[in-house]
Amino acid sequence: MDIGNVSKPVLGIESSCDETGVAVYQPGRGLLADRLYSQIALHQEYGGVVPELASRDHVRKLLPLIRETMAAAGLDFNDLGGVAYTAGPGLVGALLVGAAAARALAWALQIPAIGVHHMEGHLLAPLLEPDPPAPPFVALLVSGGHSMLVHVAGIGRYRLLGDTLDDAAGEAFDKTAKLLGLPYPGGPALAALAEQGHAGAFRFARPMTDRPGLDFSFSGLKTQVLLAWRNSDHSETARADIARGFEDAVVETLTVKCRRALAASGARTLVVAGGVGANRRLRETLTAAATADGFRVAFPRLQFCTDNGAMIAFAGALRLMAGQHEDSTIRVLPRWDLESLPAVA
Ligand SMILES: Nc1ncnc2c1ncn2[C@@H]1O[C@H](COP(=O)(O)OP(=O)(O)OP(=O)(O)O)[C@@H](O)[C@H]1O
Ligand SMILES: [Mg+2]
Repeated sequence: MDIGNVSKPVLGIESSCDETGVAVYQPGRGLLADRLYSQIALHQEYGGVVPELASRDHVRKLLPLIRETMAAAGLDFNDLGGVAYTAGPGLVGALLVGAAAARALAWALQIPAIGVHHMEGHLLAPLLEPDPPAPPFVALLVSGGHSMLVHVAGIGRYRLLGDTLDDAAGEAFDKTAKLLGLPYPGGPALAALAEQGHAGAFRFARPMTDRPGLDFSFSGLKTQVLLAWRNSDHSETARADIARGFEDAVVETLTVKCRRALAASGARTLVVAGGVGANRRLRETLTAAATADGFRVAFPRLQFCTDNGAMIAFAGALRLMAGQHEDSTIRVLPRWDLESLPAVA
């Protein structure tokens, strides 16, 4: 296998859940093309992601999306220097679709391929923006399946500072939205509703902020919201006020823990990633905290907060450039510890 041409474009494939993402990233040139197909409409009537339907839809959409992305980048397959794909964590069937396509393509083209950790992809997404932050930094990863604070000493040098004990932040948004009768996917709908709510009309707990530590727990908030909704007059005003109360509780909790993680680690930079990183109030609150405390905060552009192929192409390119790649076995890891990744020299 030829690994001498890694500054050539790298194709990235994301298929860990309900989004098919494909992108091409070239070291030195940046992102050449990025395409996304979301399965939201497919899963909407079930109120959540149905794994088997997700896998089948990835099968239908992935190859056309790869062709479309390559055309948008103005590239021929022979121009590629490597292929990166999400190897985990995620839904096993969905992951296998991306892994099989990536491995087959790499084998046919005789170029290296690498399986990327989905959360490393999220974590590095803010580095795709202009003036990218450099390690060491603290990363707040808040997505549909994760709420983590990670100390990043370098690429691949990750230490978990805090984790969720139950629901992830995005999951809490989605479940709370469902309780309030909002359509799937709930997070963005709840955030939109909260815009119309009044701050302070409902005040919910800031879980685990009154004791030391960097772990999160969001499942109790759901019960508080449910009780508040049951005891309310069920008016639109009450619904919006409750949504606002919930959002403020989550945002303040995340902000307290970010400040604590920065103080504990001595890092001066905070990086925020994952779907909840698209939340406007979270971005504003963390930006204000950064100004007040004198640290830097970096976010990905909105469409790179949620799943996308660009973050996988980028993370994969960094590892391929360092000479990392694997044999052609199609292997996925539905559960995968972020701290177990090898460092990039
Ligand atoms: N504006 C927003 N405010 C709050 N939550 C949001 C917003 N936009 C998206 N989300 C939430 O982000 C989550 C989706 O993010 P993402 O695509 O990163 O997660 P995932 O890929 O499903 O999970 P993971 O990356 O942990 O496997 C959903 O839970 C969604 O509700
Ligand atoms: Mg994700």
